Amino acid sequence: FSCSFSVQELVKEPVKTIPQHYVRSDHRRPAVPSPTGARPNQMLPIIDMNQLVAGKDSDLELQKLHSTCKDWGFFQLVNHGVDSSILEKVEQEVEGFFELPLEEKMKFKTREGGAEGYGTTERDGGKFDWSDRFYMTTNPVHKRMPHLFPELPSSLRNTLESYILEVQKLGEKLLCFMAKALKIDEKEMMEYSEDGLQSLRMTYYPPCRQPELVMGFTPHSDSTLITILHQLNGVDGLHIHKDGVWLPVRFLPGALAVNVGDTLEIFSNGVYRSIEHKVVPNEEKERMSVAFFINPKFEATVGPSPSLINPHNPPLFKRVSLDRYVEGYFSRKLNGKSYLQQLRIHDN
Ligand code: SIN
Ligand code: FE2
Repeated sequence: FSCSFSVQELVKEPVKTIPQHYVRSDHRRPAVPSPTGARPNQMLPIIDMNQLVAGKDSDLELQKLHSTCKDWGFFQLVNHGVDSSILEKVEQEVEGFFELPLEEKMKFKTREGGAEGYGTTERDGGKFDWSDRFYMTTNPVHKRMPHLFPELPSSLRNTLESYILEVQKLGEKLLCFMAKALKIDEKEMMEYSEDGLQSLRMTYYPPCRQPELVMGFTPHSDSTLITILHQLNGVDGLHIHKDGVWLPVRFLPGALAVNVGDTLEIFSNGVYRSIEHKVVPNEEKERMSVAFFINPKFEATVGPSPSLINPHNPPLFKRVSLDRYVEGYFSRKLNGKSYLQQLRIHDN
């Protein structure tokens, strides 16, 4: 039972042959290393929060944010204001959680038919990702499951609580800058996203001797407005699908990665791009990350911003309630960007 619940347990014994239920036939292979040796991964574009907020070139930085969200849908944020002591604490605590004995972690195991809690993730065709994860809703607070967040070891819970406050603030600021760049009324953006649906996922990717056979995290685009990603221990593995190729990316130490999700692509009426991404495990080292997901609020309708729609700019996407949106997204088992495509309006 332990193996299908935890890849971390599986690799405690040397893995001679990767079990079939992790071996993917439908995967797209990681970038092939160049013959002269491994190429360094591509550095993600850098956005400087200090510049955006108060820099003498803040307009230029806003333009950079705008073009990066259009062309990349992914960037790294420096001078983001989240204290390095908090980031370090998150790293320690999350590492500590995954080091707990399996019985401890299994208290949080994902329940039949649910998505939240601790476990591995099954994809189409009964294949599993090469990772263990702990996923939970964190906001609105009354949507927190009583057996998850409130029951976490207190030092992890307190650390996540402070981290969440920080990334929430940061997310709000970023969304306001994006609204400004898109020429959407800031108030409209606030009303759409403030105190919205938010969740957090801690993921542990054990090393894998044959990373080309498995998927650390299956290719997908996020359903969010934006996602804020903290890559914990400096081990890369994130690949983004840019201009038709899979690009392995890296970050500066201490930076936070941010990506545009599907609901922001829709809200911006297709101006910003929610980019498909995946994780390839490292051959030697374990990798860990914490992703924070910021969505519109529950009462919201997912659709293009009214500020952007006029006779010259017709809506490119249908409108659906957030409930229906979330249901539709998860029922597609994260198949690339297929749910977003389904909402697209084709006018001929
Ligand atoms: C994801 O949230 O798509 C995975 C990100 C990561 O672990 O780097
Ligand atoms: Fe993602």
